[in-house]
Amino acid sequence: MKTRITELLGIQYPIVCGGMMRLARPKLCAAISEAGGLGNLTAAMYGNKKELIAAIREVRELTDKPFWVNVTMLPAMNLGDRHYQNYFEAVIEEKVAAVEVGGTPLDRFAGGEYLQKLKDAGVKIIHKLGSVRHAVHAEKAGYDAVIAAGVEEGGHPLNDNVATTVLTPRMAESVKIPVITAGGMADGRGLAAALCLGAEGILMASRFICTRECEVHDNVRQELIRRQEYETVLYGNTIGLQGRALRNDTIKKVLEIEERKGGLNEILPLIAGTLGPEIWEKGNINAGSINVGQSIGLIHDVVSCRELLDRIVHEAEAIIGQVKAQAEAN
Ligand SMILES: Cc1cc2nc3c(=O)[nH]c(=O)nc-3n(C[C@H](O)[C@H](O)[C@H](O)COP(=O)(O)O)c2cc1C
Repeated sequence: MKTRITELLGIQYPIVCGGMMRLARPKLCAAISEAGGLGNLTAAMYGNKKELIAAIREVRELTDKPFWVNVTMLPAMNLGDRHYQNYFEAVIEEKVAAVEVGGTPLDRFAGGEYLQKLKDAGVKIIHKLGSVRHAVHAEKAGYDAVIAAGVEEGGHPLNDNVATTVLTPRMAESVKIPVITAGGMADGRGLAAALCLGAEGILMASRFICTRECEVHDNVRQELIRRQEYETVLYGNTIGLQGRALRNDTIKKVLEIEERKGGLNEILPLIAGTLGPEIWEKGNINAGSINVGQSIGLIHDVVSCRELLDRIVHEAEAIIGQVKAQAEAN
């Protein structure tokens, strides 16, 4: 299955993994790349350039296939230009295949010159975005591709709240660079639909949690399989950072605080990143926010990354074949 995205990134299948704080580690990253997709290493897990370089090298010990690094720059968590520049310098020095920029554009925090530095090193630059206006800006700025991230997605969907099925074709008709679609993608039906909507690849994150190679407590995997598509909620609008998370005891409390206009000071301790180990390593589902997408409704099993990617592509090809055959028969 060849698209401009497989060509751009040098991968077999048009399936990439999105950044996942705490979970997109070397083992999962390498397994996805080995299976023909693009594995993700999320920079925010590493405190400085040296640590990120060590993690990049760990991936390289496991695979010689391309992978990418996620660098997320959220206005609510601006750690200063130098912090992000260090990440980009690690990516440049190690000549990683691509970088997934999440949040604000590169020039906003790291400095516009990093776009050129990345390009000079041959690193492809792809921005995850929730609106057409931001995609047009990214194309003008020289990004190689964009990700249309609809409101169904886990993590921090833009508060424009546009669904993947509308955002993807709108982005594809508005820019010439290739579009990857994100939010609600978990199987071959999603991949086939994404291609029909004008995307040239899909990005998944929640689905990869339920793989054998994801280093996560099994309680989390089983909970995601058990829960349905209507069991995530949007939160955080009153503190200027919208998120989508699994409805659990913590998120119910956050929503109650937001309802009575309680502020950041009350909410932050409930969703702090320091609670991560309690959730992901100890499997305590109610300990904090679990920022998964509506795609959890489509997750029914735990498989290896290879089984998952092969299955998605075969399913998508079969659907496209059936549609073609039907059209020809009519
Ligand atoms: C547990 C988890 C952590 C995430 N952390 C990040 C992150 O650090 N940076 C980022 O850009 N996106 C992050 N995301 C968003 C994903 O990269 C992706 O855009 C989104 O989850 C796609 O929707 P899906 O999960 O339904 O496939 C995270 C998603 C999950 C599920």
